[in-house]
Amino acid sequence: MKYTVMIPAAGSGQRMGAGFNKLFLTLGEKPIFIHTLKVFEADPFCAGIILAVKNEEKQEIEAYLKQFDISKVQAIVEGGTERQYSVAACLEAYLEDGIVLVHDAARPFIRRAVIHSLVQEAAAHGAAITGVKAKDTMKLAPAGIVEETVNRDYLWIVQTPQAFQYEILKKASDKAIADHFLGTDESMLVERTGHPVRVVEGTYDNVKMTTQEDLAIGEILLKRVQQEENT
Ligand code: CTP
Ligand code: MG
Repeated sequence: MKYTVMIPAAGSGQRMGAGFNKLFLTLGEKPIFIHTLKVFEADPFCAGIILAVKNEEKQEIEAYLKQFDISKVQAIVEGGTERQYSVAACLEAYLEDGIVLVHDAARPFIRRAVIHSLVQEAAAHGAAITGVKAKDTMKLAPAGIVEETVNRDYLWIVQTPQAFQYEILKKASDKAIADHFLGTDESMLVERTGHPVRVVEGTYDNVKMTTQEDLAIGEILLKRVQQEENT
């Protein structure tokens, strides 16, 4: 089943503390976002990529796309001040009515098998997200005092990609913007329209490169991926 992926890459990487967009930091020999794009470039089911970037970084990003032979980028749009607005800009640039995936440029270790399960689920039910089960004991402690130990079986640590039938996400995104509602993921926007969102079990290694520690983990994960590719 074909899909188009929207990749927000217009952040500033504050928590990484590099002083520039963290996506330009390298893992192995490639910038983080190139690793992410390569996954989709190599997936025959991926029909195209829509990228949201900052205007001032567009040229540099285009040069990297050329250098690393990324050919599936159909549109590069200007990102917004919040991730949600960057995704909204991508949605404006999509002119079909198929399955769209939203995936953070900062998650280079997404696996093709997870992408495909997600796309299938979204094709069947309209909206699907990927996540992993919490490994630790989870407690609710709003004021620093434990109120409750939450049943771990019900809790999911949610990641991207998230997949939707285009119209479902577009309507949810338009409504959120009209309502001045800011969500932390696309699912939140769809949830508030009442459309059910299915969870697909993903992998723990789909980490988002957010802080310095993640880079160290990223280097290890990259070696593992490269070993898998060579066997
Ligand atoms: N993103 C975006 N537009 C924004 C903010 C974020 O396109 N206005 C993108 C980032 O580039 C990243 C993804 O959304 O690929 C996930 O965001 P996050 O990990 O929070 O990245 P940053 O916002 O760059 O980092 P920070 O929050 O630490 O500043
Ligand atoms: Mg951010």
